[in-house]
Amino acid sequence: MTAVTTRQIAAFRRKIWRFYKTHCRDLPFRNTTDPYHITVSELMLQQTQVERVIPKYLAWIKKWPNWASLANASTKAILAAWSGLGYNRRALHLHKLARVVTDDFGGQLPTERDALQKLPGIGPYTAGAILIFAYNKNIVTIDTNIRRVLLYELKLPVTLPKRELEQVALTVLPHGRSRDWHNALMDYGALALPRNMNDIPPESKQSKFEGSLRQIRGEIVRRLTEIDQIDMRSVAGSMDRSLEDVQKAALALAKDGLVEVTDYKIRLVK
Ligand code: ADE
Repeated sequence: MTAVTTRQIAAFRRKIWRFYKTHCRDLPFRNTTDPYHITVSELMLQQTQVERVIPKYLAWIKKWPNWASLANASTKAILAAWSGLGYNRRALHLHKLARVVTDDFGGQLPTERDALQKLPGIGPYTAGAILIFAYNKNIVTIDTNIRRVLLYELKLPVTLPKRELEQVALTVLPHGRSRDWHNALMDYGALALPRNMNDIPPESKQSKFEGSLRQIRGEIVRRLTEIDQIDMRSVAGSMDRSLEDVQKAALALAKDGLVEVTDYKIRLVK
């Protein structure tokens, strides 16, 4: 078991709070405790940087201010509003989630972590984040930045198993201030820690976009928010990619439930 001393805990908390007092980021999704707004922001933030998310988040909640309005939106409108954020599957998850919440949960997200985690698009990190940012629950959630802060500041080994890191995070959590504390850790990780800490490799790394199948997938979805049907051969031609790669990308999208493929034609699912 990893031992963090009482003295270490006190010093760590002081350091984080002192930093937060002067460097706290004023982000639009921090000025709300609406679980729907928090969920939208957390899904957007999963693999996209804060600066990119802000305008998309604001436009999204203006267009669809609650679960019910989102549940009634079309797939095409959803993907258009998501454009620029990447990983379109997240947009579909959010759409599906809106339908589940309105149809099966009387318009309210569950407030228990286990129940939340069973819903579309919500993993352990996001379930925790929703409960912390919406309800200030005394639980912990660990994203890349928070992990870096804990490992670096408490001098923990990068090999520390996830469960033990969660235990440490719980030990240092200031009871009753979970929301601020998690925001503070995120800010400290994003702004104060050196960008390239060679000794703390990220748990996972995004691969190169240019030349990837993901790039073709993105282009297919972008075109389908403009026209109803596209031809794989025209995508291959204009992107200067092989027809085989375009087929692979289209089939991956079909597997995700985003499109239908017939011969060379690709269409959004209805
Ligand atoms: N990433 C995910 N949630 C965030 C938040 N509340 N603030 C900053 N970055 C985040």
